[in-house]
Amino acid sequence: MEDLVRPAVRPTNPNFSSGPCAKFPGFQLDLLQGAPLGRSHRAAPGKARLAEAIELTREVLEVPHDYRIGIVPASDTGAVEMALWSLLGARGVEVLAWESFGEGWAADVVEQLGLDAAVRRAPYGEIVDFSQVDFGSDVVFTWNGTTSGVWVPDGDLIPADREGLTICDATSAAFAVELPWDRLDVVTFSWQKALGGEGGHGMLVLSPRAVERLESYTPPRPLPKIFRLTQRGRLIEGIFRGETINTPSMLCVEDYLAALRWAQSVGGLPALVARSQANAQAVADWAAGRDWVTNLAADPATASTTSVCLRFTDPRIRDADAFAAAVARRLDREGAGHDLGSYRDAPAGLRIWCGSTVETADVQALLPWIDYAFHAELAAQA
Ligand SMILES: Cc1ncc(COP(=O)(O)O)c(C=O)c1O
Repeated sequence: MEDLVRPAVRPTNPNFSSGPCAKFPGFQLDLLQGAPLGRSHRAAPGKARLAEAIELTREVLEVPHDYRIGIVPASDTGAVEMALWSLLGARGVEVLAWESFGEGWAADVVEQLGLDAAVRRAPYGEIVDFSQVDFGSDVVFTWNGTTSGVWVPDGDLIPADREGLTICDATSAAFAVELPWDRLDVVTFSWQKALGGEGGHGMLVLSPRAVERLESYTPPRPLPKIFRLTQRGRLIEGIFRGETINTPSMLCVEDYLAALRWAQSVGGLPALVARSQANAQAVADWAAGRDWVTNLAADPATASTTSVCLRFTDPRIRDADAFAAAVARRLDREGAGHDLGSYRDAPAGLRIWCGSTVETADVQALLPWIDYAFHAELAAQA
């Protein structure tokens, strides 16, 4: 009965969505006042901001100097599609999938590109066996399966001396983990995710080997303008200096810059990683003290610190989907936590975004509300 007492305190920021994610602490629209609105993005002020967004990204993410960083259209999806359509087909392809985003890339590679790719799968909560992967092929994978909360536990699982390219969708991992750049040839992510930026724009990071592939291989397929990274066999270098393929939102650019400056102000990547770890740890400690909830990740080493996915294990629950949805609805209605329902294709449960823009105090304030909502829904079910 004790758990049915509604907690007195709500999170200061009850936004726990896994994308678009919570804005950084202290964010306010005033911070965007300097955006060069109504000006061409190709005029000096706009170009300078786009170039700064690239350089700050390099600094915060500690991207090597010989890797290119480009701002591209259509968010993370756009960046991944550009890479898949531009690069694949030169050698064998393996796609690794352990939840719905990985499955989406597998479907693209096999059904749309029509490539004879090996697809290695693991069920929700698990990860594929990297020792079986042929890194002589190009390997496409998602660093963090956002919808299962399972991520690659260790960059050493990828050989540094591989022959193929690694194409990594890191949208819910970038800014929360130290990505092993020497193991990654293409890295993509979106602004709307781990720094709480806005939708619409994606980042494409290319290793020298990825550039070499682009300049030496012409894919046997038409490429729409929005995907084209080369012209007459040479990389379009301007894309990686902020000369975007088409028109970006300078308001979103300003917002991304504000987020990057915040990231620097708290201590850069190590601090971002630590903030996310502390958030995930708060959830893990809480879950460890309850016999009715557990992390979806079967192996704690693979449990993501950003998209923390939980499932309810109480045998009294009659309809897992309806129950989890009701808990999420109650948390939303109470103003204790928004957008906490697990992804539509994932096992029923809750998904708590624990990236660095979320304050640990807010996670801690949310958890008693989950106790409350869980017991209230059990009672309602009875
Ligand atoms: C792993 C992963 N890949 C791709 C996407 C799609 O990102 P966007 O909507 O920014 O294109 C998401 C969004 O949640 C994601 O989590």
